[in-house]
Amino acid sequence: MTANTAIQRHHHLTLCVGDAQEDYDFHTQVLGMKSVKKTALYDGTVPIYHLYYGNDMGDESTLITCFPMRQSGRMGRRGTNQTKAVCLSVPDGSLDHWQRRLAEAGIEAVEDERFGEKVLRFAHPSGIEYELVAVAGDERTPHTAGPVPTEHAVRGTHGVTVSVRDFESSMEFMQDGWNGSLTAEDGDYLRYEVGEGGTGRIVDFVREPNLAPGTWTFGEGIVHHTAFQVESLDVQDDVKAYLEGLGYTDVSDRKDRGYFDSVYVRTPAGALFEATVSKPDGFTIDEAADALGREFQVPPVFADQREWIMGTLEPLRY
Ligand SMILES: [Fe+2]
Repeated sequence: MTANTAIQRHHHLTLCVGDAQEDYDFHTQVLGMKSVKKTALYDGTVPIYHLYYGNDMGDESTLITCFPMRQSGRMGRRGTNQTKAVCLSVPDGSLDHWQRRLAEAGIEAVEDERFGEKVLRFAHPSGIEYELVAVAGDERTPHTAGPVPTEHAVRGTHGVTVSVRDFESSMEFMQDGWNGSLTAEDGDYLRYEVGEGGTGRIVDFVREPNLAPGTWTFGEGIVHHTAFQVESLDVQDDVKAYLEGLGYTDVSDRKDRGYFDSVYVRTPAGALFEATVSKPDGFTIDEAADALGREFQVPPVFADQREWIMGTLEPLRY
C-alpha cells in the first residue's frame, strides 16, 4: 500500500455550532442519531463541549461531532475555501418521511437533485447546510433505538461539499494526494470519491468564485473539518510524509484525540481535512458498549479539574 491509496472513507465530520442544547436536540431528536460521546475540546484553555453523534457504536463514517461555540462567544463566517455542507445518507424512499419529520420540527426543507440523486436540503440551527440524500443499498447499521424508525434512519455520512474559488488546486490535491477519483460533473460541481467509492466516500467541490473566504478558527456556524479513515498509524505516517513530499507542508503532527489519532492537513484551497486512525477500543475506551454517551467524559487536558469544568460548561439536558 502506498500513501496515495490510504484514504478509505469518511471517519467523522466536525462542526462548530451555536447553542449546545439546540445542537444536541437537533441531532438526537430531529435527526435521531445516537449521542455516542459527550466530552470537551482537547485543545486550548477554555472548556468547550465536544458532542459526538452516530450509530449505535459510533462506527467510522457515521459520525458527526460538534463544538458548541455559543458560550465562548466566538463566531465563524461561512464562505468559500471551507467545507460548506454536510450530506447524510438515508434509505431510498425515505425523503417524504423526512420532509414531514423536519416540518414537524419547524425546519423547512427543499427538494433538490444533484448528480442524479434526490436531495432534501435544510439547515442546522446554526445555519450550516445539511442535506439528506436517498441512497439505495446503504448497508451501514443506523442507530437502532432512536426516535426515527429504523427503516428511515440516517445511515451515516454520504458526502461533503467543499466550496472553492476555483477547482484547479483541489483537483490536484484530490488526485495526487488524497486517493480521489473524479467521478462526475454537474454544473458548478465536481464529484470526487475516495477508497472504493460510493456513499460515505464522497467529496464534492462547488465553484463559488465571488464568495469571500470563510473562517478557519473555532467559531459558531461553520464546518471545521472533514476527517477520513486510514487503517493504521503506519499508514497515517505514510500519508503525512507523502503529502509533505508533494509539497503540502501544512500537515500537523499526530494528535491523540482519546478515541482516535488525528493528522490534519490544510488543503490548498483552504478546507481542513484529517487522516484518522480509530483506537482499538474506540468509544469503549472510557464507557461500556451499552453505556456510550451516557456520562460526560472529562478530557485529559482538564483531568484534574473535573469540578471546575463541570461548573464552567453550560448545563446540558439529556
Ligand atoms: Fe476530527
